[in-house]
Amino acid sequence: MGRAAVAKHKSTKLVFACVGLLGAVLIADLLWASSSSYTSSYLLLSKNLQKSGDITVPHFRNSTQTKDKKGVLTERVLSATFADLPGPKLKWEKMPTAPVPRLDGAAIQIKNLLFVFAGYGTIDYVHSHVDVYNFSDNTWGGRFDMPKEMAHSHLGMVTDGRYIYVVTGQYGPQCRGPTSRTFVLDIETKQWRDMPPLPVPRYAPATQLWKGRLHVMGGSKENRHTPGLDHWSIAVKDGKVLEKEWRSEIPIPQGGPHRACIVVDDRLYLIGGQEGDFMAKPGSPIFKCSRRNEVVYDDVYMLDDEMKWKVLPPMPKPDSHIEFAWVIVNNSIVIVGGTTEKHPVTKKMTLVGEVFQFNLDTLVEYDCPGILPNWSVVGKLPYRVKTTLVGLWDGWLYFTSGQRDKGPDDPAPRKVIGEMWRTKLHL
Ligand SMILES: *[C@@H]1O[C@H](CO)[C@@H](O)[C@H](O)[C@H]1NC(C)=O
Ligand SMILES: *[C@@H]1O[C@H](CO)[C@@H](O)[C@H](O)[C@H]1NC(C)=O
Ligand SMILES: *[C@@H]1O[C@H](CO)[C@@H](O)[C@H](O)[C@H]1NC(C)=O
Ligand SMILES: *[C@@H]1O[C@H](CO)[C@@H](O)[C@H](O)[C@H]1NC(C)=O
Repeated sequence: MGRAAVAKHKSTKLVFACVGLLGAVLIADLLWASSSSYTSSYLLLSKNLQKSGDITVPHFRNSTQTKDKKGVLTERVLSATFADLPGPKLKWEKMPTAPVPRLDGAAIQIKNLLFVFAGYGTIDYVHSHVDVYNFSDNTWGGRFDMPKEMAHSHLGMVTDGRYIYVVTGQYGPQCRGPTSRTFVLDIETKQWRDMPPLPVPRYAPATQLWKGRLHVMGGSKENRHTPGLDHWSIAVKDGKVLEKEWRSEIPIPQGGPHRACIVVDDRLYLIGGQEGDFMAKPGSPIFKCSRRNEVVYDDVYMLDDEMKWKVLPPMPKPDSHIEFAWVIVNNSIVIVGGTTEKHPVTKKMTLVGEVFQFNLDTLVEYDCPGILPNWSVVGKLPYRVKTTLVGLWDGWLYFTSGQRDKGPDDPAPRKVIGEMWRTKLHL
């Protein structure tokens, strides 16, 4: 069922799990109490929400100066790799490389096929086609074109298992403007159809199918940098749009592009992301990208039947560029790579080289108040990588494409890749 897959979550199992977890509550409570405000149940989102960067080990605190034994201040250079987290080594196997390298592309898994869309080949060239990877025989093939009017990067995309809904995104290379055009693709017939355009265009908005509606929220506004908070939805079924217009929904707690948006068990999760992004240089005829301030987030928000955003425990470190870098497996969300906060001294962009797990088994607040899902580092990637495209087949976790780091000691972004890797997951 690919990304639309919904994990089974039987309430009988929950009750059983609740009893089993009673022991763990004590431990968990101790851990939470010492570090954060997540001791009881979810917190409703509030302005003065206490951030809990202390639970794990992000090293964003400034420690360039320390006192030596004699109490003299000495300068200490903060390693470029300061943000790396320890984690188990995973055994990675190199698979066939994609026909083209791509950055900021999109991907949707449907059964044994990974559909890989669009993306930058280079900053001056964008792809306008789809490549397909077959997990059954580990081959690339089945290339087909996208509609000419479809965005080439920063797309919102989601599937119901047959139809792929494609919304808005950036049209063209460098830091060109966005389009509000939206499309639906039937993967059986490879036919594309138009859908009503978004009310206004967005870059990399969070996009999901939830309770029969296509939801689109956040992203950057038309200038590529300003975070949008708007949230819209429209009723869809079997590739058909059932309403004339998009409807406004509860705004999201934090705007901006590149977060993961995932539905598990009828609950919608927003994970990580950032505010701010590169912008076109004013007056540049080629809309040349120029860097602007970005703030990367570790926040996790959840929307359920109450239609109020709830705050869940944050990621082990801030993480962005993960919109197609996740899978759901055994009631866990697994997230691969991304970007984290820039280096506090050199200001260089810092890529992420870990695979994270968010275990939802403990998300049983109705039965066991006080138990919350938790994060862990499943293992390390062969290198740090952002906007990578992820799939899961037969227990193997695959990733392909994106932009990798300069090397083990330099987490700044360098090469746009098409490489495909896989590792056997054991959660
Ligand atoms: C995380 O959840 C697992 C159950 O899924 C539990 O065994 C473990 O103790 C939890 N860890 C923390 C720190 O709460
Ligand atoms: C994927 O590979 C399997 C095994 O070779 C094959 O049976 C199937 O037809 C392929 N699917 C597509 C869509 O090419
Ligand atoms: C780090 O500490 C130094 C010295 O105290 C200070 O000048 C600098 O502004 C700090 N940097 C950050 C990112 O807080
Ligand atoms: C998921 O659970 C099944 C059944 O317990 C197990 O066989 C499988 O290895 C698990 N998958 C992962 C990735 O851990």
